[in-house]
Amino acid sequence: MNPTKQLFIAFEGIDGSGKSTHSRLLTERLNQLNFKTYTTCEPTNSEIGQLIRRILKGERKADHKTLAGLFVADRLNHILDENIGLLKQLNDGYHVITDRYYFSSYAYHSTHMDMDWVIAANSMSADLLRPTATIFVDVAPEICIERIQKSRANIELFETLDLLKAIRSNYLIAFEKLAEQENIIRIDGNRDMATVADEIFEHVNSLLG
Ligand code: ADP
Ligand code: TYD
Repeated sequence: MNPTKQLFIAFEGIDGSGKSTHSRLLTERLNQLNFKTYTTCEPTNSEIGQLIRRILKGERKADHKTLAGLFVADRLNHILDENIGLLKQLNDGYHVITDRYYFSSYAYHSTHMDMDWVIAANSMSADLLRPTATIFVDVAPEICIERIQKSRANIELFETLDLLKAIRSNYLIAFEKLAEQENIIRIDGNRDMATVADEIFEHVNSLLG
């Protein structure tokens, strides 16, 4: 649920699909319309999020099940933190945009474990705060790998072509499984940035009512 009338938009997609770019562009457009916005991401900057980032970079070792559990904890803290949590921001009148939310867990961790376990482990987050819309920026894994290689020095744990292909198909499985409970907007992100941004904005604008 979302106990407020503010929008809670979650961007999803494989690494390099353009989630952070489109989170930023959507925020800019909403700000131009004088809406108050709060833009955030997962893993967060909390201590749990920082530990997760060290694991993703290979600086610390952890089993995939442990990593999945850390994301559950990071997400609950993201929602519930009494000073900067998502519920607090929404209650204070901000539209919230997040770069990744629980569908990332379903798609990424189910490369190593049962997706239903991951969905069950995140059920408290879904009960506390469901996105108004989950925007899936769908880009071919081959294009994402090219973009990642161009834009970054370090390649992280999940960033190989075979894994990105598996993660993309897990996203599609998860969307199908949860089609009744969730509002999923799939956007063809293979096109140029401005076209993709315009289409995303049209969808969000229609949700503003
Ligand atoms: P993510 O947050 O999903 O990992 P980013 O937003 O960081 O992806 O985008 C990865 C790279 O691809 C960046 O260098 C970005 O400028 C570029 N990029 C994003 N969207 C597009 C697009 N539609 N066409 C071409 N390049 C893009
Ligand atoms: P992110 O910083 O968004 O990477 P990128 O900008 O390349 O998309 O996310 C870091 C990594 O964390 C990414 O590979 C996906 C992974 N991840 C999970 O495995 N589980 C999760 O629940 C989340 C939110 C992210």
